[in-house]
Amino acid sequence: MPIPKTSSGIPKLAFGCGTYYYKYGNNTVDEKLVAMIKATLAKGVVHIDSAEVYNVDKELGLALAESHLPREDYFITDKYFAGTSSYDARSKEANPYLHLKAFLERVNIPYVDLYLLHSPFIKKETHGFSLSESWKFMEQCKREGLAKRIGVSNFAIEHLEEILKVANEKPEVNQIEYNAYLQNQSPGIVEFSQKNGILLEAYSPLGPITKGDKTSGVGKEFDDYLTSLESKYGKTKTQILLNWVEKKGIIPITTTSKESRLDEFLDVFSFDLTPEEVETITKIGAQYKPPLRQHWVPEYGKYDNFRQTQNPTTTDQEKRRLQSRSTSSDPCTTSALAVDRQDVLIAELAAGAACSSSDTVVSIVSMAISRCSTQDLDKHPRNEMSVSSFKSPITELSSDLESWNRAPPLVYSRAPLAAKRANLAFWREVLIGNGRW
Ligand SMILES: NC(=O)c1ccc[n+]([C@@H]2O[C@H](COP(=O)([O-])OP(=O)(O)OC[C@H]3O[C@@H](n4cnc5c(N)ncnc54)[C@H](OP(=O)(O)O)[C@@H]3O)[C@@H](O)[C@H]2O)c1
Repeated sequence: MPIPKTSSGIPKLAFGCGTYYYKYGNNTVDEKLVAMIKATLAKGVVHIDSAEVYNVDKELGLALAESHLPREDYFITDKYFAGTSSYDARSKEANPYLHLKAFLERVNIPYVDLYLLHSPFIKKETHGFSLSESWKFMEQCKREGLAKRIGVSNFAIEHLEEILKVANEKPEVNQIEYNAYLQNQSPGIVEFSQKNGILLEAYSPLGPITKGDKTSGVGKEFDDYLTSLESKYGKTKTQILLNWVEKKGIIPITTTSKESRLDEFLDVFSFDLTPEEVETITKIGAQYKPPLRQHWVPEYGKYDNFRQTQNPTTTDQEKRRLQSRSTSSDPCTTSALAVDRQDVLIAELAAGAACSSSDTVVSIVSMAISRCSTQDLDKHPRNEMSVSSFKSPITELSSDLESWNRAPPLVYSRAPLAAKRANLAFWREVLIGNGRW
């Protein structure tokens, strides 16, 4: 079944060129991504989500040229690399307008369908323009026909308010991290965006099945419920979770390394979860603690703190995780004792301990704990692919730190040998300075 579109013409599911394919700092052409984008377009999954920081313009340009499709038959999103809250890295181009012009030339297309500010962390001292001034560059892109639509990503309410004050053209989209285990990237953002007519896009929509703990407590209850829906509808858990996101009025941005998964994507909208089922997924998912946050942890992890009493049905394992998260005096010691994968965790906690702000320490500790609770990640093919795509066998990591510094965060946390060898400065840089896209 073809993927339906919103009333404003945005296809309701996108294939992402970040995460699995993210290759910032690596300039070799990823032939696998070229082939996958071609296959994606050929199958009819025509909404491609990209970004400056993914560093995949060459791949995108090649795939589009080799697909020979009329421009109006596919939908491209690009994002201006505004940087993180540490303001230590950003776009090569001087402003969002100049970046988009350069992007269109590199990819050899006349316009993008959607252009986003990748993050709100923009200020005059570092960028040469303020957040509200950055929106003027975005509006210029739309005015000149370089972008059909303009929007933002990873914006909290206060950032949207700042833009809305000066906007002649409202942001059409806010792309945020969203799934059943993380139902608000920042407080109230879903309700605020929807109330203001800003369409939400959800990245990492499959978090519960790729990273969630399925073995105990809420995670097991959630997974068992997905299993019952699998049998009822004859659909996979992947399809059920993507269908749930769409039923919440949000567009899922997913990705895959496998062509076979594209057929699953095409069959996401051929069934309808009932309102009761949507509500049950929402309710069980909201009880998952700590929330499953994979990206922008230093910026938004501070919102994941909560009191232990909020979850009356915790298992012993969850209680230990909760205890670790709520400890403020010595999070490193408690957390390190709370999980099995101590070698990995200790390196991450060491990074946290090296931070200057206590909020960041808590965020890093939270992230470390939620990662270490996952049982099955080592078997996940994404890890092997990430390792091989950076040409760094785990045992040689210490001699190739630069590549690892550019790899997606998932990879470092699954590399115990690297963790043992790493020094504080390296982990601090990895976890705080990079890799949160
Ligand atoms: N704006 C931002 O700051 C931001 C941040 C992060 C991501 N993004 C965008 O969002 C896109 C998607 O992010 P994501 O990768 O986190 O999305 P996701 O949809 O949560 O995860 C996709 C992964 O799920 C795996 N998967 C699917 N079904 C599975 C199953 N049944 N069991 C196990 N694994 C399964 C896929 O692996 P297979 O290879 O096996 O299919 C794929 O690698 C990115 O590529 C990027 O374009 C944007």
